Amino acid sequence: MRIFQHFPQNRPVISPSLLAADFSCLDKSIAKVADAGAEWLHWDVMDGHFVPNISFGLPVMAALRPATDIFFDTHLMISHPARYAAAFARAGADLITFHIESDDDPAATIDRIHSNGVAAGLSLKPATPASAVLPYLDRIDLLLVMTVEPGFGGQRFMPDQLRKIAELRQAIDASGRAIRLEVDGGIDARTAPLVRAAGADTLVAGTAVFQAPQGLKKAIRDLRS
Ligand code: DX5
Ligand code: ZN
Repeated sequence: MRIFQHFPQNRPVISPSLLAADFSCLDKSIAKVADAGAEWLHWDVMDGHFVPNISFGLPVMAALRPATDIFFDTHLMISHPARYAAAFARAGADLITFHIESDDDPAATIDRIHSNGVAAGLSLKPATPASAVLPYLDRIDLLLVMTVEPGFGGQRFMPDQLRKIAELRQAIDASGRAIRLEVDGGIDARTAPLVRAAGADTLVAGTAVFQAPQGLKKAIRDLRS
């Protein structure tokens, strides 16, 4: 398992979402964000069932794995995530995050992901309370708080999620475990300071990075400051 706890505390990990990249040249987009200083790359996998949209999946990840060394942060918005854990690990995922609202047993799914040598994350939709994931803090590597309804990029950040982020920050600190706290949806230079102040240490951003008028480098720098 690639370890991802070694990042400095005062500097957020930036995970640009490939969903907002130009799909006709993903290899170039990945090289550009890696070069611009992003630590991770966020893969939004959608199945048209768990969410009302379809993006990309296993063969695309497998095809791009040899092109880069960047950490593959995989966000599964799919039904039956346990069924696909081994396949995503084989395709090159370094972290597999699935939704607590999906139909598989969370503890068994986390174990399945770990048994494939990959870090495991648990994500919550905006309407799901923090309490839903607390029973799994003893075994997960990351929590992902959705700050939009999953399914589409380019949506507006939901400020009512800040309280949940703060609640989960407290729970993580109390657990004494090195669990990363990631946020996803509508993150840009304006909302990044808000989620950072609430306790997030890992920021997903699609539109704000890939559609940045002044380029990826400045966009990533702006997200950090
Ligand atoms: C939404 C995805 C997000 C999204 C982020 O379902 O999980 O990762 O692509 O995109 P922006 O940053 O544009 O909100
Ligand atoms: Zn995502």
